[in-house]
Amino acid sequence: MKADPKKRNASPAITWEAILTSLEDGVIVIDPRGKISFINQAAESLVASSAARALQEPYTRLFRKNLWLLSMIENSQPPCLNSTRGESDFVNLWGRSAPVSASVSPLQDQYGRSLGTILLLRDLTRRREMEEDLKRSDRLAMLGTLAAGLAHEIKNPLGGIKGAAQLLRRALVRDPSLVEYAEIMIREVDRVNLLIEQLLDLSQPARLNLTPLNIHELLDQVLLLERETTQEKRIEVRKRFDPSLPPVYGDRLQLTQVFLNLIKNAFQAMNDQGCLTITTRMETDFHIREEGKDPGKFIWVDIQDDGIGIKEEDLPHIFAPFFTTKNAGTGLGLAICYRIIKEHGGLIRVESREGEGATFRVSLRVTS
Ligand SMILES: Nc1ncnc2c1ncn2[C@@H]1O[C@H](COP(=O)(O)OP(=O)(O)OP(=O)(O)O)[C@@H](O)[C@H]1O
Ligand SMILES: [Mg+2]
Repeated sequence: MKADPKKRNASPAITWEAILTSLEDGVIVIDPRGKISFINQAAESLVASSAARALQEPYTRLFRKNLWLLSMIENSQPPCLNSTRGESDFVNLWGRSAPVSASVSPLQDQYGRSLGTILLLRDLTRRREMEEDLKRSDRLAMLGTLAAGLAHEIKNPLGGIKGAAQLLRRALVRDPSLVEYAEIMIREVDRVNLLIEQLLDLSQPARLNLTPLNIHELLDQVLLLERETTQEKRIEVRKRFDPSLPPVYGDRLQLTQVFLNLIKNAFQAMNDQGCLTITTRMETDFHIREEGKDPGKFIWVDIQDDGIGIKEEDLPHIFAPFFTTKNAGTGLGLAICYRIIKEHGGLIRVESREGEGATFRVSLRVTS
């Protein structure tokens, strides 16, 4: 029997359920008794509850940590029947919080009878990250202009001070206590010079020498550079490398600098002992691609420590130049990492809670 050509080419029927399930925004319907009667996939992951568990639950339980949302929903029910929109932090059932925009409307049939409430929730995390990225780039550009001007003005007098201190050291060679003072002057001038170099580095676009790199080899070399610290401090290093990863496109020196800064920070956060875990994987979060850039595959590297962690109020500032909580820190380490990774077309993010360690994730483009 011949197949009906019309049937063969016919596309599968589009159902409302398929449409709602495929939406990136969360959709939740609450029936007139206040129970959840529909929840799509995006909403399931936002509230951290499967449909099987959420359906027929009272909405007051599902949203119990979000008083702002509860009052929006109350407002949409009879007798008020108001539609409202708002933006706030949504706390899911596990206590994790994410910025969301919410739209709550009364659901009515064609005769105006109330069928409950419909809720749209949009996760704003990625958008907030992009806004932060933009602000950071602007701040760096401003700092760049300032640094270039300042560096020029400061380097000349510094050269003079260093030359004079060197002459002084030679003239005082018979008096060791005074020689020491001259040496302190020279050392401190070198420190300021280094700081200026770092600032200039931060402000000028780097000339990247991109080559295919084996990320595991590079990480091993960085660990070798820091081997003394791991032994002195009794730090255990765990490597969870995915051996199937393809090479990444990167500048060897600059990426070495990034991972060195991150690993140094991790060691400093762990004081005398702890565990550093370095994990590599293929990136599956495809939002990572910057808009307008050609699509590509990415890998990520997690540098995770179990040190002191980062205070919530410090988290928005740690990539800013000169932000430091250390006595002897310059606060340029992470700002430099940020700039280098940005120039590689990658991304650097952090997750941390005070007292619970920190994880820095670097995403980099692979060669194919
Ligand atoms: N792994 C980490 N654990 C806890 N806090 C961290 C970690 N990495 C960075 N920080 C916080 O971020 C701040 C900024 O880090 P950054 O590397 O930019 O500067 P720094 O380490 O203070 O100084 P520098 O790197 O110039 O010596 C640190 O002072 C610290 O408060
Ligand atoms: Mg540092």
